Amino acid sequence: MSSKPIGIFDSGVGGTSIWKEIHSLLPFEKTIYLADSKNAPYGKKPVRDIIELSKKNTDKLLSMGCKIIVVACNTATTNAINELRSLYSIPFIGIEPAIKPAALKSQTKAIGILATKGTLSSALFSKTSELYTQSIKVIEVEGNGLVELIESGKKDSLEIISLLKQLLQPMLLQEIDYLVLGCSHYPYLIPTLKKILPEDVQIIDSGEAVARQTKSVLTQRDLLNTSTLFARPEFLSNKNPMILADLINAEKNGFSVSYSDF
Ligand code: SIN
Repeated sequence: MSSKPIGIFDSGVGGTSIWKEIHSLLPFEKTIYLADSKNAPYGKKPVRDIIELSKKNTDKLLSMGCKIIVVACNTATTNAINELRSLYSIPFIGIEPAIKPAALKSQTKAIGILATKGTLSSALFSKTSELYTQSIKVIEVEGNGLVELIESGKKDSLEIISLLKQLLQPMLLQEIDYLVLGCSHYPYLIPTLKKILPEDVQIIDSGEAVARQTKSVLTQRDLLNTSTLFARPEFLSNKNPMILADLINAEKNGFSVSYSDF
């Protein structure tokens, strides 16, 4: 058993979609969330930079005593998690697009994947995609511009609606019945996506699966916190902490959000 915190990092505010699932499944675990918004988006950066930023975030979380790290960013997972696992001895949980369930359930045999350039072009993504999508059509679309808009607090703006309509067009033409969200920022777009997509298109994200995997690894390694006292989550952002605070209703929920120059 360990009462040390679970560390979670993302290129910005989007990974709070993963944090919500972890917090809901493991409410007695202390969580520390790092939003590296100053360096968002990671999606267009060279692999070397993504690895260096991921190491910086990991070092910060380790300096705060974390027992496990959740890489709540698809781009950082697909490009940096292997290196992190080889450099550090604590466990890392990654987030990968839910291609497998979408491919297995699709009736139209056409699925859409919306992710960053960095995720779609990574070797880890190609390997997973090839494994499960041999007999179906996969329409991959780079969500260029979406992370920037979400990071600046415009997740419900007219600008994002018009960008999404444009990005989804090739998927709709191919009659997809599943849309896989391959970026932890995108679950914040689900209400808007539902208005744009036909009713029979299902949207899948990876949040619940990541939370279950986190619990399973903590259990296997005897690192679960057995306390039944609610642990107040802590959020650090190196740019615009107010945008993060809004997304998680920090004031109402009594969560601590602060600026940190990590
Ligand atoms: C980004 O920083 O470009 C997006 C983060 C992600 O891939 O989840």
